[in-house]
Amino acid sequence: MNKKRILSGMRPTGKLHLGHLVGALNNWIKLQNEYECFFMVADWHALMSEYEDPQRLKENMLDNVIDWLSCGIDPEKSTIFIQSQVPEHLELSFVLSLITPLGLLERCPTYKEQLREVTNRDLSTYAFLGYPVLQAADILLYKADAVPVGEDQLPHLELTRQIARKFNHLYKAAYFSQPQALLTEATRLMGLDGRKMSKSYNNYIGLSEEPEVIRKKIQNMVTDPQRIRLSDPGHPHKCNVFSYYSIFFPERRHETEQRCSKSLVGCTACKKELAEKVLELLSPIQEKRHKLLKDKKYIQEILSCGREKAASFAGKTMREVRELLKI
Ligand code: TRP
Ligand code: SF4
Repeated sequence: MNKKRILSGMRPTGKLHLGHLVGALNNWIKLQNEYECFFMVADWHALMSEYEDPQRLKENMLDNVIDWLSCGIDPEKSTIFIQSQVPEHLELSFVLSLITPLGLLERCPTYKEQLREVTNRDLSTYAFLGYPVLQAADILLYKADAVPVGEDQLPHLELTRQIARKFNHLYKAAYFSQPQALLTEATRLMGLDGRKMSKSYNNYIGLSEEPEVIRKKIQNMVTDPQRIRLSDPGHPHKCNVFSYYSIFFPERRHETEQRCSKSLVGCTACKKELAEKVLELLSPIQEKRHKLLKDKKYIQEILSCGREKAASFAGKTMREVRELLKI
């Protein structure tokens, strides 16, 4: 039986952190066994907002791929490639832009939100408005059945389906099917300060950070604000540290809950135990990362192999699309 296909992408805008691991990568890793997977470094998408500093993106790209591999993305099972190395993404994006109504893009909630919230860069560009069109091209180029994404990306999936339907209608072909969102079982990891974990809030734990740095970051996390003395009973459900227990240390969750609310453990000790657990989880990942960092040739090989596989798929789609468009 043919496996269903998925495609997903990540923008190389910074180093990866625990939020990427529990929010996306762990899910990708699981999906590798059930699906034919394409995992893409979305560098064009990143450039749409980071166009002033392309050098930084370049550094992040290999670093991100190394982290993917260290966490368990398996190049034997999955196709790993860089978007800009397969020119068909831009070609199909242009074709889709022919038929994408301006209003749909202007009304897209992610677009409106970014324009409002991002103030340190000028995002009122022609390319940025078309962000979801390029994403639709990424997905349709590989005829992906499903796209693992977080909830924030649902509007882009809906747009992709709308564009696919319009294409089929105009060119009288049942050519593109309707890709479905595969919602990540929402493990939304809060940052160290309780807001969403993000590079721009500087509230993250990086996958490649030194153990001492991670210990310090966890020790500085805000806990239950009502707990001042050790003898004050804590409210674990109001404590961000406790939410980390649920994700990273489920086997100690119940006991910690009890001990906290009965004042049997202090926050310093509680955080210390968590930090050691997080380090234990990261240790094999960091070890693999150190090995891979010394073997850039191997990474390049994986990427060129991925590029080849992606390009052969993408090339076939574009030939068919050109035929339908009589070009
Ligand atoms: N827009 C996605 C994000 O910011 C990244 C992305 C680009 C993507 N192309 C994609 C995700 C295709 C899924 C499928 O997270
Ligand atoms: Fe939070 Fe742990 Fe302190 Fe309880 S003991 S308030 S769970 S850090």
